[in-house]
Amino acid sequence: MECQPIIEVKDLYVNFYTYAGIVKAIDGVSFKICRGETYCLVGETGCGKSVTARSLTRLVPPPGRIEKGVILYYPEPGGKPINIMELSEEELRKIRGSEISYVFQDPNTSLDPLYTIGYQIAETMHAHGTVASIKEGIRKAVHILKMVLMPDPETRVKNYPHELSGGMKQRAVIGTSLSNNPKLLIADEPTTALDATVQDQIMDLLRKLRRDRNLTILLITHNMGLVAEMCDRVAVMYAGRIVEEADVYELFNNPLHPYTKALLRAVPNPLKRVEKLESIPGTVPNLIYPPPGCRFHPRCPMVMEICREKRPPEINVKPGHRVACWLYAEKRGE
Ligand SMILES: Nc1ncnc2c1ncn2[C@@H]1O[C@H](COP(=O)(O)OP(=O)(O)OP(=O)(O)O)[C@@H](O)[C@H]1O
Ligand code: SF4
Ligand SMILES: [Mg+2]
Repeated sequence: MECQPIIEVKDLYVNFYTYAGIVKAIDGVSFKICRGETYCLVGETGCGKSVTARSLTRLVPPPGRIEKGVILYYPEPGGKPINIMELSEEELRKIRGSEISYVFQDPNTSLDPLYTIGYQIAETMHAHGTVASIKEGIRKAVHILKMVLMPDPETRVKNYPHELSGGMKQRAVIGTSLSNNPKLLIADEPTTALDATVQDQIMDLLRKLRRDRNLTILLITHNMGLVAEMCDRVAVMYAGRIVEEADVYELFNNPLHPYTKALLRAVPNPLKRVEKLESIPGTVPNLIYPPPGCRFHPRCPMVMEICREKRPPEINVKPGHRVACWLYAEKRGE
C-alpha cells in the first residue's frame, strides 16, 4: 500500500549543551511515518530514540536544542503539511496532547498524584476544547476508561493514582493520551516499567486501539519481540543515526547493517530486553566525542579503512529498505 505520510523528518540534528561538552545526540536523522502504520524505533540505550520522538513536537528538554531539520506534520491524508519547526509555542501546545500525543515509560511521571484519574482525563480534554466543562469531561472519562479496558471504570474514575496498580495507571495514561482523539500516538517504552503479563495486555490494547481507531503509532522499544509482534516498519538507531530501515519481515529476514545483525544475534530470545550487546564488545560511544566516519566503526567486525574516515551514505538497497554502511556502497570513497 502506498505510504501517506503523517510525519516526515528530514535531516534532523539535536545537540545537548552540557558542562562536559556538546552532546551530538541526533546527527542527521530522516524518516517518515505512514498513516495507519506502527513504526518502531529500536536500538541500545542512549542511541537517540526518545530525543527523536520528543523532537517531533519540539519537546526536547534543555539543555537540548534542535539545531537543524525539517519536521512536517500532515493533519489530513494527502493534505498540506505543517512545518513543526515554524510553529509558535502556543500553536505547538494545541497539537501536543491532542493531534500528537505521548505515552511515556513510567506512568508515575505522567500522572499527578493530587488529582483523580477522572479529573486528569477531563482536564486534558477541557484544555483542548474537546469538552465544554470538567463535569462533562469526567462523564466522558468513564467511557475512555472503558475503551482502555480499565476494570470497573465507574469506580476507578474517582481514584487517585496511588490507588491503582502499575498496569491500571498505564491504562489511565493511555486513556488520557487518547482523550482528544490523536492522529499519532507516540509510545516511548510504554511497558518497560511493567511486569511481563501486564506488558502483553497493554500491547494487546494498543493493537486493538490501532485497529478500532485507525491510529498511527510510533513505538519505541528495546524489545525485539515487541518489534516483531507490533510493527510494520522499523528503524534501527545507533549513536544518533538511523543505520537501517525496512519493513519488519525484511529486517528480520534480511538484516544488512552489522549493528542490526548484532542486535538480532544478541536476542536469540526476542522477548529479552536489549540492555547491552553481548555478541560484540563495547558500548554506545560518548556523543560528545563521537567516532569519526561511521559511528559504529570501533565495534564493527567488518570495519574498513574508509569507515574510520567518512560517514557512510544511506543506500536504498531495494524499495523500502535502506542502510547506512560502506559495505553496500558501490563506489566506496565517493
Ligand atoms: N537532558 C539531557 N542532557 C544531556 N544529554 C542528554 C539529555 N537527554 C538525552 N541526552 C543524550 O542524548 C542521547 C540520546 O538520548 P535518548 O534519551 O534519546 O536515548 P534513548 O535511545 O531513548 O535511550 P533509552 O533506551 O535509554 O531510553 C544520549 O547520548 C543522552 O546522553
Ligand atoms: S560502515 Fe564500516 S564500520 Fe560502519 S557498519 Fe558498515 S562496515 Fe561497519
Ligand atoms: Mg529513551
